Amino acid sequence: MIFWYSGCGNSGFVAEELAKGLNQDLVFIPDAARNGNEYIVPNEEVVGFVFPIYAWAAPKIVTEFIAKMRFEHKPKYLFAAVTCGDETGYTYRTFGKFLIKQGLKLDAFFSFKMPETYINLPGFKLDTLQSEKSKIDAVKEQLPKVITSIAKREQGNFDELKGGAPFLKSYILKPLFYGLLISDKPFNVNDSCNGCGKCARECPLHNINMVDGKPRWNGNCTNCMSCYHRCPNNAINFGKQTCGKGQYYFKK
Ligand SMILES: Cc1cc2nc3c(=O)[nH]c(=O)nc-3n(C[C@H](O)[C@H](O)[C@H](O)COP(=O)(O)O)c2cc1C
Ligand code: SF4
Ligand code: SF4
Repeated sequence: MIFWYSGCGNSGFVAEELAKGLNQDLVFIPDAARNGNEYIVPNEEVVGFVFPIYAWAAPKIVTEFIAKMRFEHKPKYLFAAVTCGDETGYTYRTFGKFLIKQGLKLDAFFSFKMPETYINLPGFKLDTLQSEKSKIDAVKEQLPKVITSIAKREQGNFDELKGGAPFLKSYILKPLFYGLLISDKPFNVNDSCNGCGKCARECPLHNINMVDGKPRWNGNCTNCMSCYHRCPNNAINFGKQTCGKGQYYFKK
């Protein structure tokens, strides 16, 4: 069983490919987490978590969900497959330790470098079209190897993308980022909005309502940027930081 979360589709693609290759069922974490109750996992031999890296760590929506999971039997093999724009920092280490606290053991960790989705701060920008394509092509080549590894129940930290200064990023900057920067307050919409409602339909957390033909954000946001990137009119911005930076989401 593969539990997955994705805002802009990169991790969704990886999750679907792994599920197909390994003949596993998929569970979308925001849907499974919606009622806030415990989530009982039946007897599953293999359990996977697939998610994007947010600030050199697993997104809060993922760790909060895992904390509410109850396993009827411990999985025999547990893996994580993460997608990031550049680097994971110490996510292998911090996620592994988090799982130990939940009574679980991380057997294998796989990293995939995919197109960037975070552009909410000065200096952060999307990949060029060429770089998007080469990252996705490389992931398509990497996937069969990862599927084989998981099928063989290989253990370890594979294709690590730790990057520079991982301690600073995962232990110091990460809590600052989650505490200070993740918010939907800066989102705004300009006159190009035609009220189509796509932003609301595509929000994985159902955090957007259409009010008088315009999106309204309701305070339960992971900053996944799906609403921004998928708006057909590029009418959404995050403060002024995203203006003119372009859009990206994974197209099947
Ligand atoms: C809030 C946020 C924080 C991010 N932080 C990181 C990061 O620390 N390192 C990194 O390489 N990419 C980072 N990214 C980029 C995403 O991890 C990457 O683009 C990922 O593939 C997006 O997956 P998705 O399309 O499934 O949402 C971040 C993206 C968002 C939205
Ligand atoms: S997706 Fe864009 S155009 Fe459609 S309602 Fe949302 S902001 Fe408006
Ligand atoms: S409001 Fe936008 S950024 Fe926030 S969770 Fe929904 S789609 Fe993602």
